[in-house]
Amino acid sequence: MSSFQSNSENRRAKGKGDIIVVDNKTAFSSEAYDSDVRATIPNYCSFHDETIDLIKTINEVPDIWLDTGCGTGTFGVKVEKYFPSTKCIMADPSESMLSRAKDKLNSENNTYIISGTQDLSCQNDSIDVITSIQSHHYLDLEGRQKATRNCFRMLKAGGVYVTFENIRKNTDIGNIIGLERWKNFQVQNGKSICDAEKHIGRFNNDYFPITLESHIGVLVDAGFSVAEVLWVSAMQAGFYAVK
Ligand SMILES: C[S@@+](CC[C@H](N)C(=O)[O-])C[C@H]1O[C@@H](n2cnc3c(N)ncnc32)[C@H](O)[C@@H]1O
Repeated sequence: MSSFQSNSENRRAKGKGDIIVVDNKTAFSSEAYDSDVRATIPNYCSFHDETIDLIKTINEVPDIWLDTGCGTGTFGVKVEKYFPSTKCIMADPSESMLSRAKDKLNSENNTYIISGTQDLSCQNDSIDVITSIQSHHYLDLEGRQKATRNCFRMLKAGGVYVTFENIRKNTDIGNIIGLERWKNFQVQNGKSICDAEKHIGRFNNDYFPITLESHIGVLVDAGFSVAEVLWVSAMQAGFYAVK
């Protein structure tokens, strides 16, 4: 595997008095990601389950599935389970996240690429399904547009793109209410108020959410003929689009 490391891989963050090496753009080290993510992102498992259910409905046997921003591969494990004959391409700009994914997945047919979505260079019209779950909100609008256009380019005609993201509400009050609910979820799931507030403070600072309407606009501008909301909660949403 290449020795690529982004600047963010060396970022350090304080948590509960310890120094944690944050080796990717999420709030956790790759080592802590799997145990912490469920207490941090409400309905995290639903993102994966809704996506599996959607793809089963549209294409029961995809040949090639790219999971970009795959993180530690938790979703890839589900793809392998429900689509055993599908070849997975797992991509992530963080080498430490990707190597965990490689350890978790079973199939020897899978490919692993260290790259952000916007820089992936898979062939035009070559992929049946592309998923990007909680991985594009670190990008600004221009970066998202570039990443989404790149997914459109790589998909076959009729191919499906699914993305889940943190979202921005339409009003400041809507954001305050949504973020308060998100903070409360984290406290109810064992985080200290201080840690939950620190995490909520990442909104607009470490990641850059856009509204539901802007998400649909990015998909339509990239060329997708179908662009729909799949699922919505307080501060996260899922979308799907068909080429
Ligand atoms: C919150 S994790 C989500 C991981 C996984 N999709 C899941 O469902 O658990 C976000 C991941 O996005 C990756 N990421 C950051 N910037 C990205 C980009 N420009 N393109 C693709 N992935 C990116 C991070 O390295 C990290 O592994």
